[in-house]
Amino acid sequence: MSLGVVILAAGQGTRMKSALPKVLHRLADKPLLGHVIDCARALDPAEIVVVYGHGGDAVRQAFAGHDDLRWAEQAEQLGTGHAVAQAMPHLERASQVLVLYGDVPLTRVETLRTLIDETGQGFGLLTVTLADPTGYGRIVRNDGGRVQRIVEQKDAGNEELAIDEVNTGIMCLPRDALARWLSGLSNANAQGEYYLTDVLEMAVGDGFDVQVHQPASPVEAEGVNNRLQLATLERAYQQHSATQLMLNGVTLRDPARIDVRGRVEHGKDIEIDVNVVLEGDIQLGNNVTIGANCVLRNVRIADDVVIQPNCVLEEAIVGPGSTIGPFARLRPGAELVGGAHIGNFVEIKKSIVGQGSKVNHLSYVGDATIGAGVNVGAGTITCNYDGANKHRTVIEDNAFIGSNTALVAPVTVGAGATIGAGSVISKNAPDEKLTLTRAKQLSLNWQRPTKKNK
Ligand code: UD1
Ligand code: CA
Repeated sequence: MSLGVVILAAGQGTRMKSALPKVLHRLADKPLLGHVIDCARALDPAEIVVVYGHGGDAVRQAFAGHDDLRWAEQAEQLGTGHAVAQAMPHLERASQVLVLYGDVPLTRVETLRTLIDETGQGFGLLTVTLADPTGYGRIVRNDGGRVQRIVEQKDAGNEELAIDEVNTGIMCLPRDALARWLSGLSNANAQGEYYLTDVLEMAVGDGFDVQVHQPASPVEAEGVNNRLQLATLERAYQQHSATQLMLNGVTLRDPARIDVRGRVEHGKDIEIDVNVVLEGDIQLGNNVTIGANCVLRNVRIADDVVIQPNCVLEEAIVGPGSTIGPFARLRPGAELVGGAHIGNFVEIKKSIVGQGSKVNHLSYVGDATIGAGVNVGAGTITCNYDGANKHRTVIEDNAFIGSNTALVAPVTVGAGATIGAGSVISKNAPDEKLTLTRAKQLSLNWQRPTKKNK
């Protein structure tokens, strides 16, 4: 048996009140459709077909380079059955078809795996039981409890409206029979649409016994129609990811105040304070402490690192035993070898900071290579940009840079060199010597001006 996944993503999403197609709105910094595609991929299907329509170019562009996807256009949105029909010619190898929705982002792979396995060659349906089933298609069962058909809210009578088991829209069916059922659909219903749900009654007529499965949580079947629902699902996602972190041994001072928008790999004894945002690929070693209000994006943090509050780290590598912040910024290409101290209002970009070196206050270090045991005084600036090109600054081991020094790159400060405070260093400073550029200090007799009487 080979699986084909059809993802319906042609709907307009009017209630988002947005120029962006609904399925491109982001949950945990990934488009809704991206969540569904990743979930589909985890099932290792033979083919994935995305049915697109509204804002189709933007949707296809957002997934350019994803060569495993096939695209089926549904120019006019004539209903879910019509949408699946557009996908059928693109399913070449599949014998079993799983229908997913591009705006239902939190379905778990295990749930779908179970649905698929239980369905086999038959007809499988994912349902949920809701306290308030308003708006959903209702699952109609016979006296023996066998599923007979699905009736849409707008077509339902009072007795049917009282049913609290609803259609999630997610179903799994045999390909050839599906093609046959789709060709028999009619749009003679309250909405004038070709309902995918109508194939169920045809399947029952053909003698299929419908396998029903329910997800562990109804949130797995929830769709996004407006920004309120988007925010609700974002919270559900974040709550789940915080729970996973804690169960894996991470201390969260408040699990409601962390946002993970990517993947976190971590060692033991991590402690994360409130309002921390983790984005992209995050690697944390053992004994890492992250203070309040930090944003980390694509970073690798080694063991025994302390990140104090209010730091922003992006595409940076932090070696063991380093201390960062408060209020420090590591920009792309910042690499702390280990035991470094990066203090408040310090910005490091595309630079290596050697073992045990300190840049403690109010400095900009860009395009630099700093050796081991270096002390960079407060207010030191690497002047790396001449208005046209960037140049490198090299500071060798055990150099001491006095406060408020401007290092005009390209320039090298030799090993063990000392730079006097307030210097503008535009030529290489030799090893071990004191180098400084400074006007001589004068003291003159001086009478302060006084205010003239009118
Ligand atoms: C559908 C189901 C309903 C179920 C509900 C779950 C039908 C007829 N009804 O209703 O039983 O309870 O989902 O949310 O299937 N889409 C297209 N092309 C179309 C129409 C829809 O791609 O022509 C896509 C939409 O983008 C959306 C999904 O299909 O992702 C569902 O469409 P929607 O209009 O929201 O269906 P409902 O009326 O909510
Ligand atoms: Ca819907």
